[in-house]
Amino acid sequence: MSDLTESSQQVNNQRFNAEAAQWDANKKHAEGVTKAFDAIQRYIPAFADGTSKALDVLEIGCGTGLLSFLLAPHVRSLVGVDTADAMVDAFNAKTAALPDPCAANLAAVNVQVHSADDVHLQGAAAALALDRGESGEDLPYRFDLVVSHLTLHHIPELGDLLRTLRDCLRPGGLLALTDYEDFGEDAVAFHPASKRAGVERHGIRKREMEDVIDGVGFNEVRVERAFSLRKEVETEGREGTREMDFPFLICLAKK
Ligand SMILES: C[S@@+](CC[C@H](N)C(=O)[O-])C[C@H]1O[C@@H](n2cnc3c(N)ncnc32)[C@H](O)[C@@H]1O
Repeated sequence: MSDLTESSQQVNNQRFNAEAAQWDANKKHAEGVTKAFDAIQRYIPAFADGTSKALDVLEIGCGTGLLSFLLAPHVRSLVGVDTADAMVDAFNAKTAALPDPCAANLAAVNVQVHSADDVHLQGAAAALALDRGESGEDLPYRFDLVVSHLTLHHIPELGDLLRTLRDCLRPGGLLALTDYEDFGEDAVAFHPASKRAGVERHGIRKREMEDVIDGVGFNEVRVERAFSLRKEVETEGREGTREMDFPFLICLAKK
C-alpha cells in the first residue's frame, strides 16, 4: 500500500470513528440504506424466488450495520468488514443487544480485506458456521453474495478490491454494490467540504465500474441507475443549504 493510500485510509477511519455513535440517528443514512436494500431485493433473484435463506453474504464497509441488519433475516449468514473500529464496535453492540445474541447470523470484523483467505474474515465466517452447527469441512469459507453501500467512493484501487471480492465468492456467486453516481461536477456536493478529505472519487461512473468489474473476470456485468436520494447540500460559495437529488448506481455481476 502506498503512503498516500495509507493516509487517506487513516483520514477515513478518523472520520468514521468520530461519526459512529451518531451514524444511525441520521435519517438520510437510514433512507439510503433502505433504498439499497430494496434494490438488492429487486435485482438479486434469490430474494424473489424464496431461496435467499441459503445465501452467505459478505458486506464491504458495513459500518454500524444499517444494511446488514436489514439483510440478515433474509439470508443464512452475513459477515461485515469495515476499517473503522468504532463502526464495527457499534455493529457488534447491536448484535449483542439482540434478544438471542447467540443465535445471531451476522458479525462484523475490523479489517481491510486484501485476500479471500484473510484470517479475520475466515475467523468470522467460521464462528457463524460453528454457531449453526457446521463442522468446518468446507474451508476456506466463500460467499454467495457480496454487497456494499456507499463504500466504493472511499476505495483507492477499485481493481484490487474487485479482484479480492471475486476470490471471496463461490462459483456463480453474485455482486451487488451500490454507491452514488458521479454524474458530473455537481456530484461533489454529496459531501460537505469538511468531509471531502478521504473521499477518493465523487461518486462512481457507470462505464468505469463496468470496465473494472469486467476486467477482473466477472461475467454478466451490469451497472444501472437503481434509485435516487434527495439530500440537503451546501450552497457553494454562499451561506445556507439547498436540496439535491443524487442518482445511485447498482453494480451487478456473476462469478
Ligand atoms: C459512508 S460509510 C457507509 C457505511 C454503511 N455501508 C452505511 O451505509 O451505513 C463508508 C464505510 O466504509 C468503511 N470503509 C472505508 N474504506 C474501507 C475499506 N477499504 N474496507 C472496508 N471498509 C471501508 C468506512 O469505515 C465506513 O464505515
